[in-house]
Amino acid sequence: MSTLRIDGQRLLDRIMALAAISPIEGGGNCRLALTDEDKDGRDLVVTWMKDLGLSVSVDVVGNIIGVWNVGSGSPVMTGSHIDTVRTGGKYDGNLGVLAGLQVIETLQQAGVTPQRPFAVGVFTDEEGARFAPDMLGSLVFVGGLSVEEALDIQAIDGPRLGDELTRIGYAGNTPCPQTPPHAFVELHIEQGPLLEANDVRFGAVTGVQGISWQELTITGQSNHAGTTPMRLRKDPVVVVAEVAKFLHDLALRYGGNQVCTVGKIDVHPSLINVVAAKATMTLDVRNTDEQLLKQAEHEIAHFITEIAQREGVTTSVRTLARFEPVQFDQRVIDIVHHHAIELGHTVQYMPSGAGHDAQMIARVCPTAMIFTQSKDGLSHNPAEYTSPEDLEAGANILLQTMLTLAETDFS
Ligand code: GLV
Ligand code: MN
Ligand code: MN
Repeated sequence: MSTLRIDGQRLLDRIMALAAISPIEGGGNCRLALTDEDKDGRDLVVTWMKDLGLSVSVDVVGNIIGVWNVGSGSPVMTGSHIDTVRTGGKYDGNLGVLAGLQVIETLQQAGVTPQRPFAVGVFTDEEGARFAPDMLGSLVFVGGLSVEEALDIQAIDGPRLGDELTRIGYAGNTPCPQTPPHAFVELHIEQGPLLEANDVRFGAVTGVQGISWQELTITGQSNHAGTTPMRLRKDPVVVVAEVAKFLHDLALRYGGNQVCTVGKIDVHPSLINVVAAKATMTLDVRNTDEQLLKQAEHEIAHFITEIAQREGVTTSVRTLARFEPVQFDQRVIDIVHHHAIELGHTVQYMPSGAGHDAQMIARVCPTAMIFTQSKDGLSHNPAEYTSPEDLEAGANILLQTMLTLAETDFS
């Protein structure tokens, strides 16, 4: 079985076929969760699952699970997501789903039957770009968020998640939380520069850093830009700028794995000659160390209070997501590492900077991930790129890892 290889061209063709559904300028994709484009992508993947004879179910938050019912016991699972950010690439998430299908197709064509069922999951709203938190579908899959709460989450453009699921025809009836798989492994692009910089082809991912997402709303006093003296202003945009700079400086001061991002700012009424009435901004703060992440959150909260007082504005903060750092299962990490070496590749142990569905599934079964290089470290960008050779080789590591997981007793 160690000589089995997936069809790299077929994997690439499918990645391109999925990317053809919602193309944007620059070669990327816009397939925000539960939009019409997401529905079209889902329909295509479901067709491919059915072509492989998988039994396809959709759960109450729209997670699609395709199972190849062979062997016995709980399945070895893989998968990822097909939703994208508004300026997404072709590979983030899509690779993990489509490589999973190629693993099954390869085994079927070779007449090889694994000891356990193989499942491929397409998890709802991994990106969190339209509905926060991120990794929402996999979080509900493992019981980390109630179905009712999830269905009630409001999109950045207004609608309720439950209503959007119904609208696109993916409000399924399989209950959540679902029965845990035997083990889970996700193939994903690195989305960062480290593998390329180290000239190492693959990552055996050891865990995922902690994520804190908050939305800060600042209310000031709207007034005329020409007549209002500077000393009398209550300008929310000044606070936006101060907070953004504070986050940037905090990340540099902490060093290590600390990162901070202000990715979304909305100003009202957003006009050249009006001191704004209100502004909202998102704060994305991450660290592999939970204590440092807590300390960063504390410092940021303190600074917001201080700057609000100084500028005479009022503030409110809403938590959009908060996940502690996750450590993957050493046995699964080592299986990934072993197969990468066995297939003749360079590989390194590394944590993930991005959030992934695997970090949620890790709550209920032995889990790890495989990373491929991302050219120039670019992701969440239409220019995101991984070479066809790396996509294929990554899928082959996935294939061998899943076969070994099926034979591994984790009890
Ligand atoms: C998901 O892509 C995240 O890490 O924001
Ligand atoms: Mn992803
Ligand atoms: Mn992403």
